Amino acid sequence: MKHVVSITDVGERIGEVLSTAQEIRHKRMDVMDGKVLGLLFEKPSLRTRVSFEMAVRQLGGTPIYLSPQEIQMGVREPIKDVANVLSGYIDMIAYRGFRNQATVELAANSSIPVINALDDAEHPCQALADFLTILDSKGDLKGRKLAYLGDGNNVCNSLMLGAPYIGLDIAVATPKNYRPPVVVIQRAEELAREYGTVMELTTDADGAAADADAVYTDTWVSMGSEEEKATRLKAFKRYQVDDRIMDMAQDDAIFLHCLPAHRGEEVSSSVIDGPRSAVYPEAENRLHAQKALMKLISDDI
Ligand code: CP
Ligand code: NVA
Repeated sequence: MKHVVSITDVGERIGEVLSTAQEIRHKRMDVMDGKVLGLLFEKPSLRTRVSFEMAVRQLGGTPIYLSPQEIQMGVREPIKDVANVLSGYIDMIAYRGFRNQATVELAANSSIPVINALDDAEHPCQALADFLTILDSKGDLKGRKLAYLGDGNNVCNSLMLGAPYIGLDIAVATPKNYRPPVVVIQRAEELAREYGTVMELTTDADGAAADADAVYTDTWVSMGSEEEKATRLKAFKRYQVDDRIMDMAQDDAIFLHCLPAHRGEEVSSSVIDGPRSAVYPEAENRLHAQKALMKLISDDI
């Protein structure tokens, strides 16, 4: 494992990331002693930035944050040049951008590991933290059911593509026009077949939530699609995770959201602020999951 552009790059090692995260959660280590993680961010962030900064510090290394104004990826200079220059200075990159193609290009031209910290196609570190939260809460993952309701977006894609590797079933309910991309659906179906898990895609929110162990939603308006806000709010109205939806799930089902959340849109306050919500432990798990991920990458190189 070197670059993590997609959750499938972690693939069969997702389980190892999760067990390592549980094991080193409260430990400080020196596996990145003297090493520097560059955080190249073209979009805003609270969780990803702070959790990566803290994770690298807990591994003995140092973060350097580079804001959108500083890099201007592909505008001030070509991605290839950014990749080659940074490879000579630092030891690892966490990149948050718009186009997945840019993440791919950055990784292809970097001699140091590149971790996708969110782009339009995936959010692999989020999915690792989410799987860890389900594991923490349930004690196991195999045969458990995760329901994702709402937009077939980057977060949804990483969950769909990662779930089969850990034996997790997933049901995704989206409006017809907001399904995940066809390539993601096809790959997730292949993986589900290969690992013997269930991958269900539907427009029926109630059906997806039925008997779920965890119910997940994300914003209806991702970063970069703000101009579609009015259309999107209308299209997703029937997909709000509220108490009625949570009642379809198992009695002990948890509610997950990558955050930032919009109360009254994709989730009711009663759910996100209620007893079944695991969103704060989930956010904390970004730190533990990324710490484990960077440890395994550092051990490999
Ligand atoms: N969930 C998540 O990635 O949050 P930030 O955008 O704040 O990093
Ligand atoms: N889907 C959201 C996730 C934010 C963490 C976005 O891309 O804006």
